[in-house]
Amino acid sequence: MGVSPWNIIFLLIVLVQVFVASADTNAQDTSGLNGIAGSWGNKPSNWAGNDPCGDKWIGIICTGNRVTSIRLSSFGLFGTLSGDIQSLTELQYLDLSYNKNLNGPLPSTIGTLSKLQNLILVGCGFTGEIPKEIGQLSNLIFLSLNSNKFTGSIPPSLGGLSKLYWFDLADNQLTGGLPISNATSPGLDNLTSTKHFHFGINQLSGSIPSQIFNSNMKLIHLLLDNNKFSGSIPSTLGLLKTLEVLRFDNNPQLTGPVPTNLKNLTSLAEFHLANCNLTGPLPDLTGMTSLSFVDMSNNSFSPSDVPTWFTASLSLTSLYLENLRIGGEVPQGLFSLPSIQTLRLRGNHLNGTLSILDFSSQLQLVDLRDNDITTVTSAGMTYKKTLMLSGNPYCNQGNDDAHCKASGQSNPALPPYKTTSNCPALPPQCLSTQQLSPNCICSVPYRGTLFFRSPGFSDLGNSSYFIQLEGTMKTKFLSLSLPVDSIAIHDPFVDANNNLEMSLEVYPSGKDQFSEQDISGIGFILSNQTYKPPSNFGPYYFLGQTYSFANGALQTSKSNTNHIPLIVGASVGGAAVIAALLALIICIARRKRSPKQTEDRSQSYVSWDIKSTSTSTAPQVRGARMFSFDELKKVTNNFSEANDIGTGGYGKVYRGTLPTGQLVAVKRSQQGSLQGNLEFRTEIELLSRVHHKNVVSLVGFCFDQGEQMLVYEYVPNGTLKESLTGKSGVRLDWKRRLRVVLGAAKGIAYLHELADPPIIHRDIKSSNVLLDERLNAKVSDFGLSKLLGEDGRGQITTQVKGTMGYLDPEYYMTQQLTDRSDVYSFGVLLLEVITARKPLERGRYVVREVKEAVDRRKDMYGLHELLDPALGASSALAGLEPYVDLALRCVEESGADRPSMGEAVAEIERIAKVAGAGGAAAAESAASDSMSYAASRTPRHPYGGGGGDSASEYSGGGLPSMRVEPK
Ligand SMILES: *[C@@H]1O[C@H](CO)[C@@H](O)[C@H](O)[C@H]1NC(C)=O
Ligand SMILES: *[C@@H]1O[C@H](CO)[C@@H](O)[C@H](O)[C@H]1NC(C)=O
Ligand SMILES: *[C@@H]1O[C@H](CO)[C@@H](O)[C@H](O)[C@H]1NC(C)=O
Ligand SMILES: *[C@@H]1O[C@H](CO)[C@@H](O)[C@H](O)[C@H]1NC(C)=O
Repeated sequence: MGVSPWNIIFLLIVLVQVFVASADTNAQDTSGLNGIAGSWGNKPSNWAGNDPCGDKWIGIICTGNRVTSIRLSSFGLFGTLSGDIQSLTELQYLDLSYNKNLNGPLPSTIGTLSKLQNLILVGCGFTGEIPKEIGQLSNLIFLSLNSNKFTGSIPPSLGGLSKLYWFDLADNQLTGGLPISNATSPGLDNLTSTKHFHFGINQLSGSIPSQIFNSNMKLIHLLLDNNKFSGSIPSTLGLLKTLEVLRFDNNPQLTGPVPTNLKNLTSLAEFHLANCNLTGPLPDLTGMTSLSFVDMSNNSFSPSDVPTWFTASLSLTSLYLENLRIGGEVPQGLFSLPSIQTLRLRGNHLNGTLSILDFSSQLQLVDLRDNDITTVTSAGMTYKKTLMLSGNPYCNQGNDDAHCKASGQSNPALPPYKTTSNCPALPPQCLSTQQLSPNCICSVPYRGTLFFRSPGFSDLGNSSYFIQLEGTMKTKFLSLSLPVDSIAIHDPFVDANNNLEMSLEVYPSGKDQFSEQDISGIGFILSNQTYKPPSNFGPYYFLGQTYSFANGALQTSKSNTNHIPLIVGASVGGAAVIAALLALIICIARRKRSPKQTEDRSQSYVSWDIKSTSTSTAPQVRGARMFSFDELKKVTNNFSEANDIGTGGYGKVYRGTLPTGQLVAVKRSQQGSLQGNLEFRTEIELLSRVHHKNVVSLVGFCFDQGEQMLVYEYVPNGTLKESLTGKSGVRLDWKRRLRVVLGAAKGIAYLHELADPPIIHRDIKSSNVLLDERLNAKVSDFGLSKLLGEDGRGQITTQVKGTMGYLDPEYYMTQQLTDRSDVYSFGVLLLEVITARKPLERGRYVVREVKEAVDRRKDMYGLHELLDPALGASSALAGLEPYVDLALRCVEESGADRPSMGEAVAEIERIAKVAGAGGAAAAESAASDSMSYAASRTPRHPYGGGGGDSASEYSGGGLPSMRVEPK
């Protein structure tokens, strides 16, 4: 292989770039980053070379020639964090959040990064102890190690972090106690700048030392929930005047009385003590005027009467006091607290008469089950929301109203919140990787789960909370120049740890996919708490999912090319020239081996081993051959252009001749649009099992050298769609159309009723009906097919897939796939066949148009305007009316109202007889006629010309293009 002068010039450029550019980034930082990168998989796409700053490595921010920031949340990084991190001595921000396969211990050398301010490793898989060296990071402000797998105890050295503001160790496996200072060592009591102690969901134990709280502290959030603390709550807690959120709940061994000076905490809004073993009197919350959420359920307080603070806590939204032996009448004033939403007072000794006369409009739920209430004042009772009274004497006195029956989970917010979609009735349908944004745009959202650790409200049915959350979050992203179109939130619920969880999706604006740069920014805004939710949501954290950057490499390679012209201008020193020549020699030596390397590369793709006899990975095929790549290369004349019979989004279809003389169509997926292995296998396995003259048969397949190919019987007359558009030159008159739809119907009916197990095609459309030389219809494309479950119920819940215009709306709404979904698509096809219109074109939906136009009092149902002119004189369209009736029954809104495919076959057979289209003779004449017509075709057609239907839809032997998954 020759070496052109351009190769030399290119090499020189590359070399010079290395030499000159390496000066751009500090050498120590460069080697440090390369060391870190060496222990990672799924690195950002442009991490290569020796100039991270100059080349703008994704996720790296430099100040001058020093690396000061690493932000790589949700990249799907895997591996460990190398000790090389210590080389980055100017590093201020390190955010590797949401890379759950980043594991192993944190290197202790991280303690040498004296400039580090934010260390954010939320939702990774780190293990081992928290290095005590982190205590040396005297500039540290943000320490978020939550949702990892750290073990061991909290190092006392962390008490030395005098600037620490945010301290989050929650959701790990930490043990031991809370360290306090002594003469020789600092402790958590020294953290007088810290506002957040988030230590919940661990296995911390021992008593909470009284020294840990002092009046110099500025804590606003103290979260010690879901641990194993014992002993009692120290009275020094009362010194934390700034406290707004306090969680001690779910420490089953926490005992003793609640200190009375708690009343000093007048800023406290969220107060959680549930599920401990606290004793003494029910805490007196008088004067705590900021309280909104109080949960002290399931403790061992001594019996008490209804306290007076009940009706004086004017900002209360949620009062949860279950199983606390509280006696007396429920005060009427409780219901009329201005903000009250939820009262959970189950399992107490509340007695006497209940009257809810005056009540807050926000009140949603009153749970008074298992109390001693004897009477309910019904006079003027206008409270119509949930009231639960079972287990009270009232219900045993012959009162059998709804309140006595109410039972079960007492969260009334059903259905859960979901962002409103601004889509029209028939929404656009998206590619499989995409999802519809609330603004009805198909794109790939960034997803994750938001956790609110202590919201100040309990009415999850009040959508205004979530709308506000979406609005403020979007505003934050936009204010930081991130291309965000919209935010979607759905399915909020309170989880077992008493956190409010909900799904979050962030949709890109102006493109269908976020770039790596965008995700680095969006992830950081959430992991770094840059976004602050409305204050009644309280503290939160986010766990992001890995974002799939389908085109990452393409998007980012551009930034490098800009760099080259700059470099060419630089003077080239003698050393560089020598090095260049040396490299050239090496390169030439390598090039000689390059064909072999190509082979190696292709081996690295997943493939089924042709020689292997194992059936665990290879498809289960009977009667289908496995071809090698080289065989198919020969069969298709080296995939020559002359053999190319069609192109689609997935690749090309080639005509070929097997050594036996059999004609085949080889569908070759192009690199980058390979079907998922699963989809590929599905198609092979299904096709190899079905044998029917109206179903295209599979000859074999190839899964070799990184290629996916399917080999079909060759079907020479293209697709039904091409005939209807006039593209294929096969003219279809009314009788032939009836024969074609009859054949297609038989093929589908076979799949539904005779294949074992039954198969739902899921993508019936005119471009999936092929026509052979006798114009027999053959149904093709099984990539989306589903086997009907063996349970005989005939339903599958599944991700909605199909093609726009043909998709069954009921399936789309319910995700319940039945054979009637194919019937719907077939009905659309029937209408397409008489109108020769695309089912969905420029907002016109053929189903709606026909439905609206049908007038059964008129000749031809008054459809003359809509019929394909190529059908000819209406007098020749015998059987059109029952045909239209059948089509409209197939597209009934409800699947139950549609006929089965078997019924459709019988009906079309009847119509064909009426029209004189039955019988073999008709078929023969149709075929010969079509051949002669082909020569003189005139592709003037309502739907063939000019529309947006050019190269993307293919033809020939098989498998088209546009699959959708709107959800
Ligand atoms: C001081 O505290 C450290 C860490 O908690 C502990 O290891 C050490 O023994 C203590 N020293 C004294 C004198 O109590
Ligand atoms: C920690 O707090 C204790 C008690 O307030 C104090 O004596 C000690 O000097 C503090 N240590 C550090 C490192 O700030
Ligand atoms: C609760 O505390 C009492 C003593 O105050 C003790 O006897 C009991 O075992 C404790 N229960 C639990 C579950 O720890
Ligand atoms: C805090 O509460 C205690 C006990 O209720 C009381 O004696 C003390 O004066 C209060 N301190 C302040 C600063 O309000």
